[in-house]
Amino acid sequence: GDRPRERTLRKADLSEALKEATKEVHTQAENVEFLKNFQKGQVSRNGFKLVMSSLYHIYRALEEEIERHKAHPAYAPIYFPEELHRLSALQEDMEYWYGPRWREEIPFPEATRRYVARLHHLGREEPELLMAHAYTRYLGDLSGGQILKKIAQKALRLPDGGEGLAFFSFPSVANATKFKQLYRARMNSIEMSPETKRRVLAEARASFLFNIQVFEELQELESQNAENDTLKQQKTELRARSNDKVQENEESRRQAHVLSPVPFLRWILTFSFLVATVAVGFYAM
Ligand code: HEM
Repeated sequence: GDRPRERTLRKADLSEALKEATKEVHTQAENVEFLKNFQKGQVSRNGFKLVMSSLYHIYRALEEEIERHKAHPAYAPIYFPEELHRLSALQEDMEYWYGPRWREEIPFPEATRRYVARLHHLGREEPELLMAHAYTRYLGDLSGGQILKKIAQKALRLPDGGEGLAFFSFPSVANATKFKQLYRARMNSIEMSPETKRRVLAEARASFLFNIQVFEELQELESQNAENDTLKQQKTELRARSNDKVQENEESRRQAHVLSPVPFLRWILTFSFLVATVAVGFYAM
């Protein structure tokens, strides 16, 4: 047609191909137990802290590699540090959730380590695939961030000021929908061989799977944590109950002490009475 090419998104465009290629894994991600619970407002402070710590590790690695390759032709068009980068927001959030010694205290679970290792591998060996990870994380954050922020605020009863939730705010993006359009157009401007495009699409799917595995592991850690809480609770109850038992026993022993002389006295009295009767009887004879 005569319409300018950049006006209409075409199926061959990278942005469309990415959306299509990750449709199935996106559905899979939405249905991960942790995120399903989260969407229902079922998230504990501990679970939320776990997610935020993992995000901190992930963005630290992602943005370190992005900075290294910001001039690479396969990344430069989508380099938007002011609008998108999350590292300083996450550092702020870490301080809020873990305090000043957060760097030593935050967890770094196995699946998060694998994701981070992949990002560093790409930075070193295959920088043309980094954009797949940027797409998955940044467009995802721009799409669901505001909803997730409100859910977390309500579920964890956080202040309205947004403390602890800097990650979810993009103060330099006035209109997320418009920004996503710009981002898609920029992705589509990247020159790419069909072979590289194929690898980028595969990497985007892989990046969703890394995210899914991170959430699955956090769910497991959370369940263990909840189990530990239940166990602790049960132990406390058991201890309380056995304390009750000890008290009960002491009580009955005390009662036994008080009561036991009574039958004994009764016996003595009865016996003395008998002896006295017999003695009187003898005396009378
Ligand atoms: C709580 C579960 C999730 C929900 C409810 C959700 C929902 C959505 C929605 C409503 C959109 C907007 C679609 C559009 O504008 O056309 C979207 C887009 C997107 N989401 Fe999610 N999402 C979830 C989890 C994830 C996860 C875990 C990732 C990856 C880490 C992710 C990555 C993306 C990406 C990359 C897009 C942009 C797709 C594109 O336009 O090419 N989402 N999501």
